[in-house]
Amino acid sequence: MNNVILIRDKIKDYQNKVTKVSGDKSLSIRFAILASLATGKSRATNLLKSEDVISTINCIKKLGIKIKFNKKICEISGKGINGYNNKKNLTLDAGNSGTAARLLSATLINAKNFIKITGDSSLRKRDMKRIIKPLQKFGANFKKNNGTLPLSIKGSKFLKPIDYEETLGSAQCKSAVMLAALKINGKTRLKCAPSRNHSELMFKNVLKIPIKLKTKQKIDFIEITGGTEFKSFDYKIPGDISSASFLIVLTLLSKNSNLLIKEVNVNSTRIGIISILNTMGAKIKLKNAKIYRGEKIADIYIESIKNLKAIKLNPKFNSSAIDEFLLIFLVAGVSKGISTFTSLEELNKKESKRLDWGFKILKLLGIKTKKINNHGIKIWGNPNLDLKKKYVIKNYLKDHRVFMVCTIAALTLGGEWKIYDPDSIKTSFPSFLHIIKKLGGSIN
Ligand code: S3P
Repeated sequence: MNNVILIRDKIKDYQNKVTKVSGDKSLSIRFAILASLATGKSRATNLLKSEDVISTINCIKKLGIKIKFNKKICEISGKGINGYNNKKNLTLDAGNSGTAARLLSATLINAKNFIKITGDSSLRKRDMKRIIKPLQKFGANFKKNNGTLPLSIKGSKFLKPIDYEETLGSAQCKSAVMLAALKINGKTRLKCAPSRNHSELMFKNVLKIPIKLKTKQKIDFIEITGGTEFKSFDYKIPGDISSASFLIVLTLLSKNSNLLIKEVNVNSTRIGIISILNTMGAKIKLKNAKIYRGEKIADIYIESIKNLKAIKLNPKFNSSAIDEFLLIFLVAGVSKGISTFTSLEELNKKESKRLDWGFKILKLLGIKTKKINNHGIKIWGNPNLDLKKKYVIKNYLKDHRVFMVCTIAALTLGGEWKIYDPDSIKTSFPSFLHIIKKLGGSIN
């Protein structure tokens, strides 16, 4: 792939198109890690073959677990909850994946030797204190660390279950505590701000391990009895709503198009973008909904809409749309009225500083914005925006979502765009440009 793409034309209208997006990233990483801790051979179909998932798989292989790909099936031969081979001087490279780094660290809670975990330059900037703190409470040892990667973790004689309160609304942090709890005899209790619940659903419906789940006044209570082995399992990974969201906004902002995206995970903790866009005037519909192992799967139907209106978003929607805000800001930028989004400080802790990138992109497009302290954005939408200038996007820490949102802006709003580092899509949605071209997008 060239290291830059050029977009000069808006996408032409498309009708009655049907597409599929690749497997869900969160579920693919969870499948790989949980299968590596099961006893026996687990198989997944439609596992996402993206760099984040491949990094996870390479780390697990280094821990002595066999992983094979046969055509469309990924087969992992787990050796039980204590089956990792924690050799001396082992370094695991999580690449760009925060989920891999945080979840895998937790699985090393009882490692016999110090295991080092590192990542790429973007991941090495991200906060690891959020998992170091609970893992230390369990009794794990860390070599002196400033709260970022690389970190080195080892077990201890004093491992014990914990009571922990997760206040950030981070599914990675919650899942790290849950994975550590799996390995430790006794009851671990968690009280969590809302975040995606894939780990809970897999523990309960797939692994069938002792877990109690309760939600009271929007706080999730989880109790896990650890120390029990679980059997291997098969899993069919549905499409990723975070990938589908780029096609949803592409269609929404095109003039006269419609699209059906088949078999997407529409778990209620993930579809904030659909609720938000529908409140802004979109008419996104879910069709053929079914439940698979506790996860809701449906086809998503979307059509272009002209009169989108601004939103003052209640932050209760933030966690269920956490990876989609760059797209939501773009839609707000062309909607009638003033939109406000608050309590989004977590966005600046992602693969790049995404709240800052929201400002940068909208400013570049000539859309008026204002900061709300260090956590929010006010956007004066311009429904008549029609771009004519030249735009260059580079040096964004190769954040896949920055690349993709700029591609969608270019294809729907006009102008002449040079967007660097298309390779970044390999992180989460390798077929992104291929699908866009099949829908008629002209990209050089
Ligand atoms: C993820 C959780 C989210 C999300 C990330 C994937 C997961 O992060 O941003 O892309 O798979 O658990 P946090 O919930 O930890 O903020």
